[in-house]
Amino acid sequence: MKSFVYLAVLLVLFLSSVSTSKEKQIKKEETIEKRVKNLLSKMTLEEKIGQMTQVTIETMAKQHGTATQHFEYDINKMKDAIVKYHVGSILNVYDVALSVDYWHKLITQIQDIATKETRLKIPILYGIDAIHGANYTTGATLFPQAINMAATFNSDLVKKEGEITALEVRASGIPWNFYPVLDLGRQQLWPRLWETYGEDVYLDSKMGESYIEGAQGDDISDKDKVAVCLKHYVGYSFPISGKDRTPAWISERMMQEYFLPPFEKAIEAGAQTVMVNSSEVNGIPGHSNYHLLTEVLRGQMKFKGLVVSDWQDIERLYTRDKVADSPEEAVRMAVMAGVDMSMVPLDFSFYNYLLKLVKEGKVPESRIDESVSRILRVKMMLGLFENPYPDENLKSQFASKQSDKINLQASEESIVLAKNDGNILPLSKNAKILVTGPTANMLSVLNSGWTITWQGNEESLYPKDKPTVLKAIQEKINSANVKYVEGTSFDSEINIEEAVKAAKDVDDIIVCLGEHAYCETPGNINDLTLDAAQLKLAHALIKTGKPVILVMIEGRPRVINSIVDGAKGILLAFLPGMNGGEAISNILFGDANPSARLSVTYPKFPDDLVHYDYKPIEAAEGNQFDPQWPFGYGLSYTTFNYSNLKLDKNEIKKGEKIKISVDVKNTGNRKSKDAVLLYLNDEYASVSRPVKQLKRFSKIELNPGETKTVEFTLDDYDLSFIGRQDKRIVEPGKFKVFVGDLSSEFTLLK
Ligand code: BGC
Repeated sequence: MKSFVYLAVLLVLFLSSVSTSKEKQIKKEETIEKRVKNLLSKMTLEEKIGQMTQVTIETMAKQHGTATQHFEYDINKMKDAIVKYHVGSILNVYDVALSVDYWHKLITQIQDIATKETRLKIPILYGIDAIHGANYTTGATLFPQAINMAATFNSDLVKKEGEITALEVRASGIPWNFYPVLDLGRQQLWPRLWETYGEDVYLDSKMGESYIEGAQGDDISDKDKVAVCLKHYVGYSFPISGKDRTPAWISERMMQEYFLPPFEKAIEAGAQTVMVNSSEVNGIPGHSNYHLLTEVLRGQMKFKGLVVSDWQDIERLYTRDKVADSPEEAVRMAVMAGVDMSMVPLDFSFYNYLLKLVKEGKVPESRIDESVSRILRVKMMLGLFENPYPDENLKSQFASKQSDKINLQASEESIVLAKNDGNILPLSKNAKILVTGPTANMLSVLNSGWTITWQGNEESLYPKDKPTVLKAIQEKINSANVKYVEGTSFDSEINIEEAVKAAKDVDDIIVCLGEHAYCETPGNINDLTLDAAQLKLAHALIKTGKPVILVMIEGRPRVINSIVDGAKGILLAFLPGMNGGEAISNILFGDANPSARLSVTYPKFPDDLVHYDYKPIEAAEGNQFDPQWPFGYGLSYTTFNYSNLKLDKNEIKKGEKIKISVDVKNTGNRKSKDAVLLYLNDEYASVSRPVKQLKRFSKIELNPGETKTVEFTLDDYDLSFIGRQDKRIVEPGKFKVFVGDLSSEFTLLK
């Protein structure tokens, strides 16, 4: 009885704390609304349009930053932008990462001008691409790229990445991060594939939510939180040609079922800003798409925050897409479609055109007020009016040892073991090893784009204290037992014969292949097959008869089927980040046990780009699903046994939930993590359904011999799909669930 009273008191206290924090939140929002209205009423048209203008820091440069010289700003140009043009936002670096101290100097100067030398003292909203950590601040904690983070199937790690990145970005004095990328990675050729959380809708949505939780916390005005920016809304990631910024054709049903849900969930998770698709969908450039930017984003998804354009993309409606017949018309189109802020970013043309358009009555001032309110609201939510300056106290937490440790864990959990014939891995630490290949001795290849520079390929700027794969192996085992021969560059032979000769005296050969660092359009390719020179190196080494371990370091799954059979072991490391060298070496020599699963389907052939959630017709009447490895695939150094798949009901009614449980046992002799994945198939439906779709996952850790029961709950949304009328529906019928090699069925009643 006593304990019952105690529990009841606790419950009341808990509920009242929830309601007071909710009440507080509502009050805060009401206050912000009043402040926004009040400030807006004092603004001139010029000041309003200035808020909608975002320029790059390059426009205020005295000196360009390069590998050998530091960026420096020009205070007069800065004043011009902030005082004369009233700009509301600045972005980027020019062109290399800055130190925390220089960021402090820069942001302090910017905010000094904005809050001391302008009439209304509105702080600047500085934005940056901190894609895998604070990649434009030197020495930051740089995580694996998103394609890897998704492969961890560990949403806690993604949340941690969000927390650490937010702290380090804020420690640099910046409150706004153009991240997460929620584009669905369903075009393997696309050079931005690695910026995505992979090909699956649920995994993308879940990782996006977790990142936002970590980055924004409960309140983005907290000193170590930032506002996230969801990008690139929407459909950018599915270019038919595979080239960056080329057309996508996406039906309404496909848009609603695949590409929109990750954005929808992220908005529910509290995202306040969205960046627009730089390309076009169904012939309509993203920045002129009223349907997607206003009807869907504002109407259907109830988004209240601010929409920022992508780089120069309003102007491109005229110069590139030719849907506007003048630069002025391009500005009118974009603003009327729903864009609130223009990343112009190299001049003040947007400001001048928009001012003219409003004065001539071609854009109503009410539309301007709407956008400016959204921008001011985000600035207020971030607490910039109270304190726009960098926080000196956060510096001490920047790139901490603890963050580095979490980063190493993320890296280890993100590398997929795809093949391990005869348990060739892990290798003995006493073995004699040959290390070869173009990705063996570079840090840039482990990180790729958005690392220190946009393309991430300035090897000389990488930290000297982080090991490449080669160096990490040399540090781990007796370095006298490690031979290194380059073999090839990315696309041409260097000394393959020398590598073959060196192979004679070793026990095992580690061949590190893959891609150089790249980002966006410069990363376009014409063929997904790995470069011929690299394949030649692998073939020559396989021919020696010595065991070959392939380590693939790449941003997208380059086709390697001609060397898969000959290799004894294969690690798909993709882009494991700044600790990638150490993580790969830890896995190769057994100091870490792989637990990653592929976040994209790895194709066997360059023209067979099918996804794991294919339709029945894709495996019927002579067709077959035949990838190299499917999404969700990944081995471990231990073995697991799945048993006892149980459903709490065989039949459910609409609105009811179903609980599913499964026992997972570690049947090997190593402690290990396992990603338990639950898939669903709707057996018969009015629109053809995928053979299976991921609906839940859980990452668990098991000691040898240990068993854990994993429980999942599915609801109506998980059973729903976009029906013939292009609306989300749930249809009665039979559903099949799959976990590991087990499956079971239940029925949704009429
Ligand atoms: C990219 C965006 C990025 C922006 C600002 C564009 O080229 O598409 O993802 O946020 O540049 O750097």
